[in-house]
Amino acid sequence: MSLFEGLANGWIAAQKPYQPGRPLEEVARELGLESIDGIVKLASNENNLGPSPKAMAAMREAIPRMHLYPDGGSFYLREGIAKHFGVGADMVMLGCGSNEHLVLLAHAFMDQGDDLVCSEKSFVVYQLVAALYRCNCIQAPMRGMTHDLDAMLAAITPRTKLVIVANPNNPTGTLVDQAAVDSFVERLPEGVVAVFDEAYMELIEPEIQVDTVKHVKAGKKPVVTLRTFSKAYGLAGLRVGYALAQPDAIDLLNRVRQPFNVTAMAQAAALAALEDEEYLVASRKMLREGRAQLMAGMRELGLEPVEAVANFILFPFEKAAELAGELTKRKVIVRPMMGFGLPGYVRVSVGQAAENARFLEALEEAMGGIA
Ligand SMILES: Cc1ncc(COP(=O)(O)O)c(C=O)c1O
Repeated sequence: MSLFEGLANGWIAAQKPYQPGRPLEEVARELGLESIDGIVKLASNENNLGPSPKAMAAMREAIPRMHLYPDGGSFYLREGIAKHFGVGADMVMLGCGSNEHLVLLAHAFMDQGDDLVCSEKSFVVYQLVAALYRCNCIQAPMRGMTHDLDAMLAAITPRTKLVIVANPNNPTGTLVDQAAVDSFVERLPEGVVAVFDEAYMELIEPEIQVDTVKHVKAGKKPVVTLRTFSKAYGLAGLRVGYALAQPDAIDLLNRVRQPFNVTAMAQAAALAALEDEEYLVASRKMLREGRAQLMAGMRELGLEPVEAVANFILFPFEKAAELAGELTKRKVIVRPMMGFGLPGYVRVSVGQAAENARFLEALEEAMGGIA
């Protein structure tokens, strides 16, 4: 018997750990390689352009001050984000990735036995967060691979405190459009906070981007918009995301966060990245071209990838874990989706052209080896 058995809170002991994409170093160790060189990671929807050069310069400049605690209020970054969106700095709150905001939102708004509504085939962290606070996670049905916002509204109960819409959705990569989102906000019942988790929004083409910040600004409904520097801005390793909401909601979230939840390095890099429009344009170009390359290549192999707008593609494959294992042997890391409750599906992130080509080559070989 382990020393701590029976001592933990039961609902924590029962909590399923999040299964992240496999790190390069772990796969190198498994394959007995001395370095990570030549391994292609397409497992965590990162931006394979690497960090923006401006962000890297800002990080180098910040190094000599790393003996100091960060600015706990992230003043300059908050000001920068507020200016970017045309909101007050009191409507912005920084976090250790937008994942932290998901926990803080539950901490602030949910009590034991409350309900959180999201969609089936959506970001698995919503279920984990609900369980952490002894709440129920109600998963509304989707229309195929896309959120059905009517079904999400219909799933709301008197005990629902949060409804979370991942847009674009992970892992399906699909988007619900502006009209659907506007109508959803309008019909949101009283007592429910709507959270738009927009981790990939800046990466998609500007013409189809959805504006939920206008609902935050309007202040008529309790709406929270979450964004992150992990994807479009290429800073996943630094862990920095933000929430936009009315000042009273931001005040609540600030009460539940740790005082230094965003490192000084992350603040400096994120502020520089926010101003690097050239990098953002290059990221969208990589995505546009890479997605077309992957979709065409996968279809040629007889697969049926889901039509996506984000920087990842979901495709059905019965022996998903086996396929991921075979690809790993060929130094390509993708994500089988069991951890998201989708056995029989694999998700591949869009990388640079040469990485996508490596994936397609390895995929063809791997599929050939699976009966
Ligand atoms: C839909 C969605 N929300 C939130 C996150 C968390 O992003 P981060 O914590 O890196 O900001 C992710 C990451 O994959 C995601 O896919």
